[in-house]
Amino acid sequence: MTMLDIRDITKRFGGLVANDSIAFTVEAGQIFAVIGPNGAGKTTLFNMVAGTFPPSEGEVAFDGAVISGRSVAEIAQSGLVRTYQLVQLFKQMTVAENVMVGFHRVTTGGVFSALVRPPGVRRQEREIREKTAEILEFVGLSHRADVTADLLPYGEQRLLEVARALAAGPKLLLLDEPAAGLNTEETAELARVVRKVNENGVTIMLIEHDMGLVMQIAHRIAVLDFGRKIAEGTPEEIRAHPEVIAAYLGGTEGYDD
Ligand SMILES: Nc1ncnc2c1ncn2[C@@H]1O[C@H](COP(=O)(O)OP(=O)(O)O)[C@@H](O)[C@H]1O
Ligand SMILES: [Mg+2]
Repeated sequence: MTMLDIRDITKRFGGLVANDSIAFTVEAGQIFAVIGPNGAGKTTLFNMVAGTFPPSEGEVAFDGAVISGRSVAEIAQSGLVRTYQLVQLFKQMTVAENVMVGFHRVTTGGVFSALVRPPGVRRQEREIREKTAEILEFVGLSHRADVTADLLPYGEQRLLEVARALAAGPKLLLLDEPAAGLNTEETAELARVVRKVNENGVTIMLIEHDMGLVMQIAHRIAVLDFGRKIAEGTPEEIRAHPEVIAAYLGGTEGYDD
């Protein structure tokens, strides 16, 4: 089943073509990675998918319905939830409170949606607290529940962003460079959590710079360069693709950037 269908989308910023007729599909259950050099158009693609702005041309269908033109909130409510390239936590709130914020974007469907819209408000509050505890346990942040978010090490801030996104009950989770700035150990932990989220039934599309991480966890990869999709395939196919090696890896360089 196709979860996301990106149909020839183009984005122009004045004279700049940031995305040039990009097309691919993400199947339900996949971890799909979008890679490419800085400025290739990856975040622009995410912005069009998540509804930050509409494509100049083309359209995006999610879970069988065209979503282009809908607002970010509407799209999130239908089960497509994103995180951002730069950490966007409520820094003065606790870890648990940050996750609770995510429940405002509740949806039907998705792994963490069993407790959505219960009848009584008090019961709802209790259930949100319980569900928050479950999600923190799931990402390995239980011991930090009452810590102020800005006191967390950077790697845990990234995990907290994933936790908050999970509270919204995504069917499809978009992660924009989730491992940017993380050390080796933090990257391994993030990879473990992303895999676990996926194994629990959430389809994932991620932008990533860390080729080691991508090759390790992605089922399928699309490569962007100067706004165009220059390749798509399995990690093995991408690794061997001459245009990718030339454009992205600079010829002789390895994958561990
Ligand atoms: N809101 C915007 N307005 C104008 N230009 C933009 C905007 N967003 C991105 N761009 C430009 O589009 C190109 C692609 O950017 P981006 O999608 O952020 O690339 P990536 O995420 O792959 O690094 C860049 O040249 C960038 O400067
Ligand atoms: Mg980007």
